[in-house]
Order: sequence, then C-alpha cells, then structure tokens
Amino acid sequence: MKVAVTGTNGQLGTDLCRALHNFDIIPFTHADIEIVDMASVREAMLKHKPAIIINTAAYVRVDDCEDEKEKAFRVNALGARNVAVVAQELGARLVHLSTDYVFGGEVEPRTAPYTEFDTPIPLSIYGKSKLAGENLVRHFCLRHFIVRSSGLFGVAGSSGKGGNFIETMLRLARERDELKVVNDQVFSPTYTRDLARKIAQLITTEYYGIFHITSKGACSWYEFTTETLKLAGLKTPVVPITSDQYPQKARRPHYSVLDNYHLRLLGMDDMRPWQESLRDYLVARGHIT
Ligand SMILES: NC(=O)c1ccc[n+]([C@@H]2O[C@H](COP(=O)([O-])OP(=O)(O)OC[C@H]3O[C@@H](n4cnc5c(N)ncnc54)[C@H](OP(=O)(O)O)[C@@H]3O)[C@@H](O)[C@H]2O)c1
Repeated sequence: MKVAVTGTNGQLGTDLCRALHNFDIIPFTHADIEIVDMASVREAMLKHKPAIIINTAAYVRVDDCEDEKEKAFRVNALGARNVAVVAQELGARLVHLSTDYVFGGEVEPRTAPYTEFDTPIPLSIYGKSKLAGENLVRHFCLRHFIVRSSGLFGVAGSSGKGGNFIETMLRLARERDELKVVNDQVFSPTYTRDLARKIAQLITTEYYGIFHITSKGACSWYEFTTETLKLAGLKTPVVPITSDQYPQKARRPHYSVLDNYHLRLLGMDDMRPWQESLRDYLVARGHIT
C-alpha cells in the first residue's frame, strides 16, 4: 500500500519513514512539495496516487508565528486544506498532525488532561492556525485522522526549530553553572519514534476522527530538564522559574496535557511513560549506553 509522507526531513517525518517499513513509502521533503501551493500538492500526489497521505509539514516556530501571522495561516491552515482537498480527490485516507497548543485558553485554569471531546481554545497564532487546519481537514477530507501530539523530541531534531529542547538543555548544562527552566507549563513530552509507530498502526484501521497520541504521564519543562540531566549524569543545578520570568512572544498553555482517550476507548493506548522514552532517546543519540 502506498503511503505519501510530507515533511520527511522533519523529526516526526524521519521516524515515520522508519516506522512505515511495511508500506510503499513516498517521501516528500519541502523541496519536493509546497503544501501552500495547491498545484504542487496535486501534481506530487497524482503522480503516485497514494492510498494514504500523512501530512507532518507545518510552520512550527511558535514564537515566530506571532510575527509572521500570514505565513502561519498560509502553511498550517491553507496548506492543510490543500492536502485535504487532494486526498479527497484521490479517495485517500489522510493523517494530519496537530498540537496540544490548540488548548489552554480557558479562563478557569485547567488541571485535568484534555480529551478529544473537549473544545479547543488556542492562545497563540500557532495554536489558532493549527486549529484552523484541523477544521479545514475535517471539512474537506472524509476519511481523516487528526493526530494531536505534544512536546515532540526525535533523533533527527526539528528541522523547523533547528534542533530540540533536550539537545539544547544538554549543551547549556555543559556550558553554564546553572540552568533556569520554566516550571508552570505542564505537558506530555512525546518521542517521535513512539508516535510514528502508533500512527503506523492507526492507518490500518477505519477509526477516523481526532486522536490524542502522547506519552504516558506529564511534567513541566523544569521536570523534563531535571530528568534529562539525571539520566545523562550531569550535575548542573536546575532552578525552577515561572513563565513571567521567561517572557516569550507567544503565550503558551500552563497546562496542555492530552488524554489518549480515543485510543483508550479502542483498547489501543499502549504508549510508554515519557521517562522510558526519554531514556531510549538518550541511548539512540549516544548520550548514554
Ligand atoms: N515539535 C513539536 O513539539 C510538536 C508538538 C505537537 C505537534 N507538532 C506537529 O507535528 C508535526 C511535525 O512536527 P516536527 O516537530 O516533526 O516538525 P519539523 O521537524 O519542523 O518538520 C516539519 C517539516 O515540514 C516541512 N515543511 C515546512 N513548511 C512546509 C511547506 N510549506 N510545504 C512542505 N513542507 C513544509 C519542513 O521542511 P523545511 O524545514 O525544509 O522547511 C520540515 O521538514 C507538525 O504538524 C507540528 O505542528 C509538533
């Protein structure tokens, strides 16, 4: 079965190409396809006629999206629409990647994980543009899986962000006497290898709809950093700070933990605790044995 994947230079795209080894993969980097351009999407997809399309391509620089609002909506909303229209024309299934940042905008602070049946209220342009993309996918492609995940880390590193949080923290821990890390943004860090494996399972089903797919458990960026340094054997002190003490352009949710509720209802939620995945990641990157 032919599976087309966009964003294959990215951290999730790279792991999807590995996880889909039983399929006939058609990989598209940004050089091969421009999702903002309907003609480019149509030409690329019609040439191969995939049965399944997985769209990981996105403008993922959360803070830059605030300054480049048009680019954010063009890529994350209209780009998603273009892929959905072509997937529908081909009668293909579409997996579209989205984010926990579609949540977090309620007045009452949230303390319980979000299920797929909660109403998204995004805080940032990135979150709004990704939510717009979800809605367009739902509208234009009947057989869709919208997969929301969170805090991705992968061996390839995010091509859009130029690396990932873990590698940045390991480097800074070696360079500095002390690290200060935000402790009031709680989420579920997710290893792209685990996410890619689950997507490879999901696409063989007809369980269309929205899916939250994250690692088990949750932590703040501070807790994520302390666990990373502990596993890597680094003793640099880490000081917890608040988001107010680390101003960023985009507002981020204080709590955006996703509940893999849909997977659980189907008996398919065997995602691992994030600590276990983090250890595997550090081994895969050669930081520990
Ligand atoms: N990173 C996270 O923490 C996170 C969390 C939740 C959800 N997600 C979602 O998961 C998906 C994958 O994220 P990721 O971390 O793997 O991102 P990534 O490493 O930045 O990969 C995204 C890929 O999309 C390509 N791309 C960007 N704009 C494009 C366009 N207009 N047309 C075609 N290709 C384009 C990029 O190519 P170039 O770099 O060459 O432009 C890159 O290869 C995204 O949809 C993202 O919104 C990410």
